[in-house]
Amino acid sequence: MRWCSVLLGLLLLRLGLLALRGLVLPGAARVVVPGANAVCRASYGRFLGPRDEYGRRYSTFPDGLRSEMREMARAMFLFGYDNYMKFAFPEDELNPILCRGRGPDTENPSNLNINDVLGNYSLTLIDALDTLAVMGNATEFQRAVRLVIDTVSFDKDSTVQVFEATIRILGSLLSAHIILTDTKQPFGNMTLSGYDNELLHMAHDLAVRLLPAFENTKTGMPYPRVNLKKGVPPDSRNETCTAGAGSLLVEFGILSRLLGDSTFEWVARRAVRALWSLRSNDTGLFGNVVNIQTGQWVGKQSGLGAGLDSFFEYLLKSYILFGEEEDLEMFNEAYKSIQNHLRRGREACNEGEGDPPLYVNVNMLNGQIMNTWIDSLQAFFPGLQVLKGDIEDAICLHAFYYAIWKRYEALPERYNWQLQAPDVSFYPLRPELVESTYLLYQATKNPFYLHVGMDILLSLEKHAKANSGFCSESGVAMPRYTTLLRNPKKIGWKAFF
Ligand SMILES: *[C@@H]1O[C@H](CO)[C@@H](O)[C@H](O)[C@H]1NC(C)=O
Ligand SMILES: *[C@@H]1O[C@H](CO)[C@@H](O)[C@H](O)[C@H]1NC(C)=O
Ligand SMILES: *[C@@H]1O[C@H](CO)[C@@H](O)[C@H](O)[C@H]1NC(C)=O
Ligand SMILES: *[C@@H]1O[C@H](CO)[C@@H](O)[C@H](O)[C@H]1NC(C)=O
Ligand SMILES: *[C@@H]1O[C@H](CO)[C@@H](O)[C@H](O)[C@H]1NC(C)=O
Repeated sequence: MRWCSVLLGLLLLRLGLLALRGLVLPGAARVVVPGANAVCRASYGRFLGPRDEYGRRYSTFPDGLRSEMREMARAMFLFGYDNYMKFAFPEDELNPILCRGRGPDTENPSNLNINDVLGNYSLTLIDALDTLAVMGNATEFQRAVRLVIDTVSFDKDSTVQVFEATIRILGSLLSAHIILTDTKQPFGNMTLSGYDNELLHMAHDLAVRLLPAFENTKTGMPYPRVNLKKGVPPDSRNETCTAGAGSLLVEFGILSRLLGDSTFEWVARRAVRALWSLRSNDTGLFGNVVNIQTGQWVGKQSGLGAGLDSFFEYLLKSYILFGEEEDLEMFNEAYKSIQNHLRRGREACNEGEGDPPLYVNVNMLNGQIMNTWIDSLQAFFPGLQVLKGDIEDAICLHAFYYAIWKRYEALPERYNWQLQAPDVSFYPLRPELVESTYLLYQATKNPFYLHVGMDILLSLEKHAKANSGFCSESGVAMPRYTTLLRNPKKIGWKAFF
């Protein structure tokens, strides 16, 4: 199961940045911001090459190079997008090696890796809308919006994962709707004459089709999957992961507020509260898999990666969006438990005895370490720490992930920090490190993070580019190819724009 950390869309990006100014800068002023270089150098220097070269390389980022990178990011996006439109649309995504479209695996309904995400609803087109706006491409944005309105329907016999449909489809429709109706039009004039809230109506239609997942559950936590036509399939499993049940509030909350109908926010909030009540009394930690009927923890591993990641992310981002104190209180308390029980290594990031800090996987009941790997998804956490205002720890953890990136020119899905080697070595173009890099750049304006962005861009161009798009890099066999476009808004290298 792929629990990607969440995509935000532009709305969040904008609001997040506004909030960033409010939340972070007072703290940032205290922290020695140019410290990014020093932290990275001190902790992970062995990955990064000789000191002088390091200083020369990271301390500036020339304007010319920045526009070159901006054009490269634009070209990479267009390459994937145009080829998707040419070879794959109206199917969900492009197989960039075979140059063919692909939708749900109807022959093998248990192929969840595919069927959780691909709903036979032109996923990539919808997912790309706000990236077209970020790129300032008004004509194509408007054309794509029309195409979505005219051709996409959710009245499909597809069983999709509630979480995936929410973050990819619901989130994309809502952010495109907000872009279309924004009076300020920050990306150039993206308005569409005759637009009559069609994307909002589509979002509503989809959300109503997801609602059955929240019915007939004793705790209020949703079933993980739902058929868009027929509701929850009979004999559905009663288990879900924490992230799946607990990261729906951003999209459901925005939908409720746009529609003036509290139903959606209410069900999402009820699921968060149900999870909240199940945290361990001793450690304050959550497990990764829970039974939605009994509330019992089926998976007791607690960590910041797969199964939990976006649950924490949504607590804080919901607070930033909606300003409900309850969300901030839950986030702060969860953050405290994370610092107390998951964080290992020395107290300060950049000085003192011991290893640089690291967040490990532990048993939720007693805080005992469960394994010696961290996963690639956890790279979202520095970004969240930036939003919280914990810049120094954010710099530190990000530097650790960047050091791994430098070594492999990708992030292995799982990295064993004891052996200092990958445990699972594929890289399905995950965007978490990029998002953290972006937020750290916004918080510090340190050119170091533009270099990180450039390194990531160049690695992808070098290793992940295929005939007609970008695909996952596999050290071990990957069951599928993931186009870069799959998560375009997460892979926007927005810092260059
Ligand atoms: C996808 O939807 C189209 C149009 O509704 C339908 O004709 C087609 O059979 C569906 N494909 C799959 C794989 O479900
Ligand atoms: C806008 O998108 C279209 C379709 O991908 C592309 O052909 C065109 O060059 C883009 N325009 C700009 C300014 O990038
Ligand atoms: C955008 O363009 C439309 C049509 O050309 C125009 O009516 C509208 O005032 C413009 N909106 C903004 C915010 O510039
Ligand atoms: C899920 O829980 C319900 C209610 O407790 C029970 O009736 C059903 O058999 C369970 N389903 C599975 C697949 O275990
Ligand atoms: C925590 O304590 C409360 C009250 O004593 C109890 O009802 C609940 O089951 C406990 N939760 C866990 C996860 O142990």
